[in-house]
Amino acid sequence: MKTPLKWVVVAAARPNFMKIAPLLRAVKQHNRENGHLVQPILVHTGQHYDASMSDAFFRDLDIPDPDVHLNVGSGTHAEQTGRVMIEFEKLLFQETPDLVIVVGDVNSTLACALSAVKLHIPVAHVEAGLRSFDRKMPEEINRLLTDAVSDYLFTPSPDGDENLVKEGVPREKIFLVGDIMIDSLFYHLGKAKANNVKSRLSLISEEEGPECKPYSLLTLHRPSNVDDRKALSRILEGLLKVAERVPIIFPCHPRARKQIAAFGFDKAFQFHQGLSLSDADYYDRGDLKRKIHCLPPLGYLEFLNLMVDAKVVFTDSGGIQEETTVLGIPCITLRDSTERPITIAQGTNVLVHNDPEKIVREALRILDGNAPKGICPEIWDGKTAQRIVKILSSKAGR
Ligand code: UD1
Repeated sequence: MKTPLKWVVVAAARPNFMKIAPLLRAVKQHNRENGHLVQPILVHTGQHYDASMSDAFFRDLDIPDPDVHLNVGSGTHAEQTGRVMIEFEKLLFQETPDLVIVVGDVNSTLACALSAVKLHIPVAHVEAGLRSFDRKMPEEINRLLTDAVSDYLFTPSPDGDENLVKEGVPREKIFLVGDIMIDSLFYHLGKAKANNVKSRLSLISEEEGPECKPYSLLTLHRPSNVDDRKALSRILEGLLKVAERVPIIFPCHPRARKQIAAFGFDKAFQFHQGLSLSDADYYDRGDLKRKIHCLPPLGYLEFLNLMVDAKVVFTDSGGIQEETTVLGIPCITLRDSTERPITIAQGTNVLVHNDPEKIVREALRILDGNAPKGICPEIWDGKTAQRIVKILSSKAGR
């Protein structure tokens, strides 16, 4: 019997968790069907550490406890990247894995890829080839450098392949496999729809029947939006006008929460400690009509539940542009570029940057019933992780 291959799978921050969950499931299925051939080692770098940013996602996505926790935490880019590299290298010396799998574009993605490649350990990058062509975004630097040192580049869409080929990556390293986030979305959609978050937020009431009241959803955390006073104030100016027409529910990232307080923008928000809002907060209006409803960060199933029925989603996240495209929910992206152009070309996404007029114009267009109709990109079918595991194991001769 052959010794099992050791694959280290890296998880670090909130947007990684929905990408590693299907991978681990696909490895398990592969082992079941072929005998035990791969030993996955799940490493959590600890880039995100709050229960609401990490533990809740492990629970919602049925991810096993990490085998190793590096407890790296927050810091400047160099501090965080450096600390992950140092701790991850120690683990690589100890485990001598056959492969390291990294996902997405966060600081830990790059740090782990660099540590591995320097020890001549092959690296697989899931969600390779995406480019915003904006090198001021930390994620763009992480994407470029991770792709430059990876051995297997798994792309979600053909634009990813084209970008990599233009950068000189040999074609035989590139594999178009689809969007792994969508594996999680399809797998958990039923459970998410059954979540009771809308009742807890008084968006549904038993007396009034199953129809939920209209609402929109907001996420905001990019440094270019929340660390820049002018950008944030322009975004709020637009959103507060939209709030007069439809309530805006804003599960708030810790970075954004800190910056709202630092800039003294608290007045734009109604802060809610938990998930129980009274009906009056949303619809009896008065002064609250001019507020954005700020909640603590939500879990995966709760957020997905809200996304499914939102009239419109405002976001600066990458993954949410993809999820709304698949769900057919209109998405207004608060950025001037996107590394996911397919969500505009084929999906429901539109870019408005931080322009208050555009924010209002696009929102009203959607609320007046003229939302863009998108289609689901090819091979975003929920089977991306299986394709990746099949390719990697056949390359290893298993
Ligand atoms: C990181 C990723 C970004 C991703 C985002 C999703 C990088 C460069 N950025 O940004 O691509 O879209 O995660 O959330 O890797 N904090 C907490 N609790 C936590 C984590 C962070 O309070 O569990 C606070 C800390 O004060 C920290 C700040 O949030 O300084 C930012 O966290 P960090 O991981 O540096 O970047 P994100 O903005 O979360």
